[in-house]
Amino acid sequence: MSGAPEAFDAVDIIRLKRDGERLSDPQIDWVIDAYTRGVVADEQMSALAMAVCIRGLDAAEIARWTAAMVASGTQLDFSNLGRRSVDKHSTGGVGDKITLPLAPLVASFGVAVPQLSGRGLGYTGGTLDKLESIPGWRADLSTVEMLAQLRSVGVVICAPGPGLAPADRKLYALRDATGTVESIPLIASSIMSKKIAEGTGALVLDVKVGSGAFMTDLADARELASAMVELGEEAGLVTVALVTDMSTPLGRTAGNALEVRESVEVLAGGGPDDVVGLTLALAREMLDAAGRPDADPAAALADGRAMDVWRAMVAAQGGDPRAPLPRARHTEQVLAPSEGILRSLDAHGVGVAAWRLGAGRARQGEAVQAGAGVEMHVKPGEVVRAGQPLLTLHTDTPERFPRALAALADAVVVDAAGDLGATGLAREATATGAARVVLERISR
Ligand code: URA
Repeated sequence: MSGAPEAFDAVDIIRLKRDGERLSDPQIDWVIDAYTRGVVADEQMSALAMAVCIRGLDAAEIARWTAAMVASGTQLDFSNLGRRSVDKHSTGGVGDKITLPLAPLVASFGVAVPQLSGRGLGYTGGTLDKLESIPGWRADLSTVEMLAQLRSVGVVICAPGPGLAPADRKLYALRDATGTVESIPLIASSIMSKKIAEGTGALVLDVKVGSGAFMTDLADARELASAMVELGEEAGLVTVALVTDMSTPLGRTAGNALEVRESVEVLAGGGPDDVVGLTLALAREMLDAAGRPDADPAAALADGRAMDVWRAMVAAQGGDPRAPLPRARHTEQVLAPSEGILRSLDAHGVGVAAWRLGAGRARQGEAVQAGAGVEMHVKPGEVVRAGQPLLTLHTDTPERFPRALAALADAVVVDAAGDLGATGLAREATATGAARVVLERISR
């Protein structure tokens, strides 16, 4: 230990925020740096995170907090790639497999897509867990491998290296264990510090709202989206956000291999219309942000260009794109209790059920089951007949079925067919996939 005195005292900073004062730039720089160095203890940082949850940070404090987290580690640089780069980040939702078809689709237009992704914690799945269900596929690449793949294939989806925003890595784990995840300033700075450190030239954010998302309220989702757009633009990234619906799962699958299968259907020109609609809406935003407003992503799904890039990306990371995907050893069906229209299929209930079946983890580092999850045979607005299968649950460990079924108890609501006009579902069911999912667009 060097004997150099520290610039501030953690307890003074905690007290200031506890009492609703704003923190100065030097105080923020110090507390983030000292926490990364281990000088500010976990219990002190948890107290500060709780004070921020309750008292908030103003726009200038959020910007400085984000910059301090970026400065806690290394920054990647894609400026020598010879092409524009663009990334997408989703705040996470149930059945959200969009990155899988989207990243190769955008890369098929010659734009570099460096997609640093995470593993799932809790009931929303992680992109890396999904891809790891492909036999042989590897998430951990060195920076040299990542840059080489961006040059050769144009897209890479991998885990961030340990040097990227290490302050956020430490703080996020702490927040997860102390009930301090749900804070707009902390979420915005956490996400944007990683994206700014990653070095992408442009960023499209998918901010989810609904029962299966962090934000269950549209006003909060809007505030989070605006805060992140502001942070991105201030850091020199073209940044746009779509606020999208997460009241019901995306597509017809929630679970790792199940979602890869559905993503491959989209890349083959098929797939559920909400997944296709959102993939195309985000692709258009990404291509526009990367200077290709004229590109037609629907054509690249239809003619197989996106599928070619997907196969090249999977193979470059050791995976076999043609290998059969794992299937769970046991299944159980949920049948429709009566005839009518499926009024709602709650994202939170389905997410928790998939998680309990083994698709997600309760603790960092736990293994997940590749084949586990929920398959949805009917989506809201569709007609159901009494006794018809609504859901199929998949797991390797059948003792998990009862708890998964309990999570679904209030998640499925079937209305008698005569109620259809009253609920307006007939109109909703005929809207296009994107129109149903994208609620708002937020830019500077
Ligand atoms: N995802 C992140 O990376 N950070 C948060 O705080 C929440 C979601």
